[in-house]
Amino acid sequence: MKETLKYYKPYIPMILLVILALFGQAMCELLLPKYMADIINSGIIPGDMNYIYRAGALMLLISLVITICAALGDYFAAKTAAKSSRDIRRALFRNVTAFSDAELDQFSTASLITRSTNDVQTVQNTTVMMLRMAIFAPLMGIGSVVRALQTSVDLAWTIVLALICVLMVMLLAFILVMPKFKILQKKLDRLNLVISERLSGLLVVRAFTAEKHEESRFDQANIELRDLNIFVNRLMAFMMPAMNLIMSLSGVLIVWAGSKLVDIGGLLVGNMLAFMQYAMHVVMSFLFVTMIFIMIPRAAVSAGRIGEVLKTEPSVRDAEDCIDLTDPIGLIEFRNVSFAYPGAEEKALSNISFVANPGETTAIIGGTGSGKSSLVSLIPRFHDVTEGQILIDGTDIRQISQKSLRDAIGYVPQKGILFSGTIESNLQYGKENAAEDEMREAAEIAQAIDFITEKPDGFCEEVAQGGTTVSGGQKQRLSIARALMKKAQINIFDDSFSALDFKTDAKLRASLKEKMKDSTLLIVAQRINTIMDAEKIIVLDDGLIAGIGTHKELLKSCQVYQEIASSQLSEEELRKGAC
Ligand SMILES: Nc1ncnc2c1ncn2[C@@H]1O[C@H](COP(=O)(O)OP(=O)(O)O)[C@@H](O)[C@H]1O
Ligand SMILES: [Mg+2]
Repeated sequence: MKETLKYYKPYIPMILLVILALFGQAMCELLLPKYMADIINSGIIPGDMNYIYRAGALMLLISLVITICAALGDYFAAKTAAKSSRDIRRALFRNVTAFSDAELDQFSTASLITRSTNDVQTVQNTTVMMLRMAIFAPLMGIGSVVRALQTSVDLAWTIVLALICVLMVMLLAFILVMPKFKILQKKLDRLNLVISERLSGLLVVRAFTAEKHEESRFDQANIELRDLNIFVNRLMAFMMPAMNLIMSLSGVLIVWAGSKLVDIGGLLVGNMLAFMQYAMHVVMSFLFVTMIFIMIPRAAVSAGRIGEVLKTEPSVRDAEDCIDLTDPIGLIEFRNVSFAYPGAEEKALSNISFVANPGETTAIIGGTGSGKSSLVSLIPRFHDVTEGQILIDGTDIRQISQKSLRDAIGYVPQKGILFSGTIESNLQYGKENAAEDEMREAAEIAQAIDFITEKPDGFCEEVAQGGTTVSGGQKQRLSIARALMKKAQINIFDDSFSALDFKTDAKLRASLKEKMKDSTLLIVAQRINTIMDAEKIIVLDDGLIAGIGTHKELLKSCQVYQEIASSQLSEEELRKGAC
């Protein structure tokens, strides 16, 4: 709640304008019934046309002022709410972008989406309502009570009666609806989760012909949300007519009791009608105040959910005295690194120590789940090490600013991810406004140039969201080209050659070696062929280093490597490698 309120601070001047406009509106509205009473009492009854014209013109003028004030109030209230919501969304987005996996898992992507859209909208709607009513309604209410009492004390009981009725109806609604609001937001989260999960897994759903099952799962979440929404809205729908009824009945009551007073000469007809208007104002103001009390808790739920995200600090942060990595050489050193995923009991990596030299290829091989991806993800600080140190050019990476660290690293993730746009826009992700020459060069090294030029639009070919319009191998090659665009000193390829055929794989590695002579290459692979020529091969087994050396050395000394090799290479290749 506090985190959210902070975002209204810059708009205090605008809020003051709203208050000023609404104050003007309230004061003028309070004048109108009095003039109406005067027209009836001193104009219509004695038949004084001049008075009617004069007072009528004044009333018109006041109405005009009311309209202007109301419009200004609405305008600035809407503006304040829209602008502060934009700021909140921006802050949410910034914060979430800095989250590491640990924080993302804590909230779930679906919930983060609901929080940045629906919850912010709820807060925005309430803000408009609050700005519009929180000051205006009490002001009007109290002003009308004073005015009504000035007009006739004898009829005051009718207002009290009407207020009691309004209070009872509102109390009922409050008790019934309030607990539902929190559930409503949760159900919305659930619906978003089901939708996003299903959409991203659509192929699996189809392959297993599970559409029916999925539809029913979706239906269930949808129906639950519908029922709750219907309940809340029905109740809200019932409120309006109920309030109208109360107001009409109190009008009748005032005329009935008032006419008796008029009859005995205790009240002027005009005053009775003015009293009726004041009474309506009192009831309406009371209604708005209670409505605000209903809306605030709902908005508080949303504001709380937003605040939770805003106050979650990303676990990977820049150190206060961090330095920039200028002109990196690219010497990477792991010193006794151990790493466990947050919440996981077992370590994914233990006691990892090695050095990756610039100008050399350091390969990492091991079975699935042996910790290869975890190991390389530590270098750009997607996670921080649990124990030990990682150094680049002799500096602990936690002492280096995240921006300069990541600028120095070209990273190709295991799962090729492309963004919607064109091939060009995806490559330019690696370097803004890169010229076609540079893209061509990167695409050539990544062996992507052939299929790009074969596309009808070349570099301008559209790429659908998630890169679904290109094949797995093409997606990998585009991801590689994108990383190469950066011309970074350190290049990490996490199993990036797995979807390539042997020939392309070999060609790619050869041109990498040639074009990136001085840089540090870290290649994660499952295929021995991919890494056989590497200067250094690290064999990972269950999070531990089983051996470090060249292909030849490892074939002699490392049992895990021998097993992998014998399952992939022919007898002849093995013999050739060993001698
Ligand atoms: N985000 C994560 N949260 C918790 N555990 C994870 C996460 N990612 C991977 N792991 C676990 O860490 C171990 C190593 O995984 P990973 O590094 O992806 O292996 P590899 O890339 O060698 O196949 C696995 O046991 C896996 O279950
Ligand atoms: Mg992996």
